[in-house]
Amino acid sequence: MFTKTKVTVSAPGKIHLLGEHAVVFGRPALVATVNLRITVSISSSLHPKLDPKSLENEIRKVIEPIIKKALKLKKIPPYELAITSQLPIGTGLGSSAAMSAAYITALLSFLKVKWDLNLINELAFEAEKIFHGNPSGADNSTIVFGGLIWYRKEANDLKLIQQIPFSIPQKLAKNFVLINSGKPKQNTKDMVTMVRNLYDKKPGLVNRFLDYQEKLVKELLQAVKNADEEEIIRIIKEGEKNLEKIGVASKFAQRIIRKIEAIGGAAKICGAGASDGPTGVLLCYHPNPLVIQNIAQSSSLEYFKTNLGVEGLRKES
Ligand code: PMV
Repeated sequence: MFTKTKVTVSAPGKIHLLGEHAVVFGRPALVATVNLRITVSISSSLHPKLDPKSLENEIRKVIEPIIKKALKLKKIPPYELAITSQLPIGTGLGSSAAMSAAYITALLSFLKVKWDLNLINELAFEAEKIFHGNPSGADNSTIVFGGLIWYRKEANDLKLIQQIPFSIPQKLAKNFVLINSGKPKQNTKDMVTMVRNLYDKKPGLVNRFLDYQEKLVKELLQAVKNADEEEIIRIIKEGEKNLEKIGVASKFAQRIIRKIEAIGGAAKICGAGASDGPTGVLLCYHPNPLVIQNIAQSSSLEYFKTNLGVEGLRKES
């Protein structure tokens, strides 16, 4: 007799408070989950529907080989896959890592394989390599473990993933707004390769970027802990200017960011960015977040008020 089983898993997105790109070169990043989740459901089905052009099918082609290899399986029983997302896809909020982590967890649960967060994180990293070429592992680690994460890749097989033992103080948390500047034309792989090529051509310039970003990330952790608003604004501004030096913040993004700075706030690109046109989500801070919402509205851009540092990967049913 056919008994139907259904497993549902959700995973949050993430935002780089600071440290993107530098983290690929082994420098620290401070990354927080965002309260926009991707939900993946798997149900047993004798005749699953498969739309070859769907997002589900694209991701299935990446995840199934990883699971088969890890579990030494030849075949996976047929199942129906459904993905829903509150996260805009491909805009620097870690949608690929969230989707991979939630899908892997759902599939392992469906196959009745015992898993823990470390295993999911390892397998999600394998998927990130396929999506992004040479990822740091910060996105999947933050999304899986949740909260506020200090991440540093010390070597290929040694990664420091430290959950920060405090959350972003409410006084600061309420003033962050995310503006979606639009889906970048370049993807994370393109941008990481671009910065690697820049490093090969101008190692001095990139090393200066790396040293300064590391200093700022360390200062940011203290500023968050102390709920020091002036410091937060200074560090986000400086971090953004530094990202501009390596060409990952387009003129289009810079124009929006300068408007926010001009009224006493700060903003930065998040994640891979882009050298031209929209750069995905911008992390914006202002003591009165309404003024950021006004800037977004007047530029007809989508914005989100979202909690930062929320729970990571979660089995829903
Ligand atoms: O844009 P996203 O969400 O894929 O973030 C990329 C962050 C980088 O530091 C640029 C790459 C990485 O692997 O950490």
